Amino acid sequence: MKIVQIGTGGWGKNHTRILSELGVLVAICDADIEKSKEYGEKYSVNYYQSLEKLLESEKFDGAFVVTPTSTHTEIAMKLLESKKHVFVEKPMTYKSEDGEKLAKLAEKNKVILTCGYIERFNPAVDVVKKIVNEKKFGELVMLEFHRENRMPLHIKDVGIIYDTAVHDIDTANWLFNDMPQVVFARAGKIKHEHEDFASIMLGYKNDKVAIISSNWITPKKVRKFSAVCTDAIISSDFITQEIVVEKDEKSETIQNEKQEPLMREIQNFLDAIEKKTEQIVKSQEAVNVTKIAEAALLSSQKGTPIYLNLK
Ligand SMILES: NC(=O)c1ccc[n+]([C@@H]2O[C@H](COP(=O)([O-])OP(=O)(O)OC[C@H]3O[C@@H](n4cnc5c(N)ncnc54)[C@H](O)[C@@H]3O)[C@@H](O)[C@H]2O)c1
Repeated sequence: MKIVQIGTGGWGKNHTRILSELGVLVAICDADIEKSKEYGEKYSVNYYQSLEKLLESEKFDGAFVVTPTSTHTEIAMKLLESKKHVFVEKPMTYKSEDGEKLAKLAEKNKVILTCGYIERFNPAVDVVKKIVNEKKFGELVMLEFHRENRMPLHIKDVGIIYDTAVHDIDTANWLFNDMPQVVFARAGKIKHEHEDFASIMLGYKNDKVAIISSNWITPKKVRKFSAVCTDAIISSDFITQEIVVEKDEKSETIQNEKQEPLMREIQNFLDAIEKKTEQIVKSQEAVNVTKIAEAALLSSQKGTPIYLNLK
């Protein structure tokens, strides 16, 4: 198995470390040649400044695209055209129509296209999903997410809905095992060029809802969610991966082994390439998340709910 990586910035350096640890990394490419050189030398792999040059020179099976969102479509398109399996960081594309084009191309070329919705690989989400599926505490009625952190100003191409709330949009779809029919959002900006706080309500069938609160303003890093079921409230923290179940006046902690979600996410892509398992995040699901993010932004601009009819 031979894997390359495009983009070795703030987040991408983690992929480089893991891919090297797993012994599959053969080359990296970053538009910033200093970074490319630094990581190429650190992990003893070939390094490039341009994707074209890498495609000309390297033989490989799959690629990770960990560049800014606005560059995903062009890079992923070239890789898919070369019949490579592609993992694109979230959100898959800025425009959902570009995501549709990528998904079609991947299908035509019979390669995997997936997207970095990492919380699906968070062991805490796995446990909550199992509890919900088994209806251990009754029916899941409502989900609530809080993702708050003062963010550096380096993300210039998208606002908080596309950058941050998308994680919770995907997790809500995953836990409800459904797509929302309606989206309502309020959002605004205080410090950034694009929206930097947002509250999003996703409406699923049978009046089920997910409420997503995200902001880049408040100083404390918060990444929590709760699943309100008919017989208990299950709360968890994406960072500590702890899970607490509150029933009546008593609360119970569910023991769970902490693991690095990125390692599990990368392993799933590699296993799917080798056909050992299914790719967990399907390309159409990632396109849908972008459609929901588009609807949330539009809703916040128009002040009205946006109705969707997702596949
Ligand atoms: N899953 C997560 O939890 C998570 C967390 C952070 C970021 N991300 C995603 O990862 C992606 C990258 O984010 P980041 O914070 O690492 O950004 P960053 O700006 O720190 O790094 C991006 C890197 O890509 C390089 N680059 C830019 N254009 C390029 C091109 N055309 N070809 C090759 N290299 C190019 C830049 O030089 C830079 O080194 C984004 O899509 C972001 O949404 C995901």
